[in-house]
Amino acid sequence: MDSQIRYLDQIAIRGKRVLLRVDLNVPVDADGNILDDTRIRRIAPTVNYCLDEEAKVIIMSHMDRPGGKRVKRYSLRNVAKRLARYISRDVKFVSDCIGPGVERAVRRMKEGEVLCLENLRFYKGETDNSTAFAKALASLGDVYINDAFAVSHREHASIVSVPRFVKERGAGFLMRKEINYFKRALDNPRRPFCAIIGGGKVASKIRAIEHLVGMVDKLLIGGGMSFTFLRAMGFPTGQSLVEEKAVPLARRILTKAHRNNVKIYLPVDCVVADKVHESAKVEVVPSQEIPEKWYGVDIGPATVTLFAEALRDARTIVWNGPMGIFEVEPFARGTLAMVSTLARSYAMTIVGGGDTDVAIHRAGEWANISYISTGGGAFIHLLEGRELPGIRALR
Ligand code: 3PG
Repeated sequence: MDSQIRYLDQIAIRGKRVLLRVDLNVPVDADGNILDDTRIRRIAPTVNYCLDEEAKVIIMSHMDRPGGKRVKRYSLRNVAKRLARYISRDVKFVSDCIGPGVERAVRRMKEGEVLCLENLRFYKGETDNSTAFAKALASLGDVYINDAFAVSHREHASIVSVPRFVKERGAGFLMRKEINYFKRALDNPRRPFCAIIGGGKVASKIRAIEHLVGMVDKLLIGGGMSFTFLRAMGFPTGQSLVEEKAVPLARRILTKAHRNNVKIYLPVDCVVADKVHESAKVEVVPSQEIPEKWYGVDIGPATVTLFAEALRDARTIVWNGPMGIFEVEPFARGTLAMVSTLARSYAMTIVGGGDTDVAIHRAGEWANISYISTGGGAFIHLLEGRELPGIRALR
């Protein structure tokens, strides 16, 4: 636990206006209907605690990236309704997040009530980290609580500036849980410590991979990014996703891993397809033999076995990013097999990133993973060995 910050249960909030920053950035369809409400459920304990303490709870969140404009689909109105269901209380909604209407609604609040503000990103001031916007938000509360781990890597007004202008500040229960699991995994891991990194973009995860090579015993690389590594080893990659610019970086990582005695595991076979579509022709080939016109879309069965073997003695496993284009049914096997390997492991398993989370739920294995983080970008930020700006702001 971070001893320099205070947590919600260490702050007197009874009767006070608690400005609660949460991450309710949930996926919605074109009409704004919620497709997955995990993030809403995960903040319920924090809200309930505030209500037990008879605080006035003012919920702040963003949704998606509306770019400073009002976009109906990204309104938090439906989210407020869904939250009400999970906390079995009314949640009032106000269709703005600053201004006289909001101030009036806050003035009328009674103890033990919840008010949800409209999407913070309807104002550019949020992402621009505007001081005026932050001050307007801060004036609504007496205590600021950050329970928005998943967005705490952003230097946005409600994350880093609002806490400067409120009398008291601290972190919520979801934040505490996320930070504690990360600390257990990264500060003093039980070994062998293994990391699995997948997903499409090497560039967005390169710093995390470099940092991990300095700490883990084994590093498994799958998914789209593995092709950049295969290219760095001189293999043909066909039409697979390769980030040419990142090839020298991949080479550097392979050398560093060798120097540090870290075992790197790359796919030994791949599922290849003649197009990226359900109806594609599909084959399994050795990684050295990806045909020129074909796309690498998943790890192959030999790699599934290799990865499972590599993880057999693991005591700590951290996983981010799918092993293939798993949203397309015929290319999902490698990712689902990885879920099953982790679910059956005796290691402490920590998984992050939206896609990986979806795969775990699709496989019905959420109860068999030690911890599923709500963070994607924030998860990577921590794997890079960096502190979250949102945590720094609570000191
Ligand atoms: C997320 O979903 O990762 C967070 O809500 C952050 O969203 P952002 O990448 O749009 O800042």
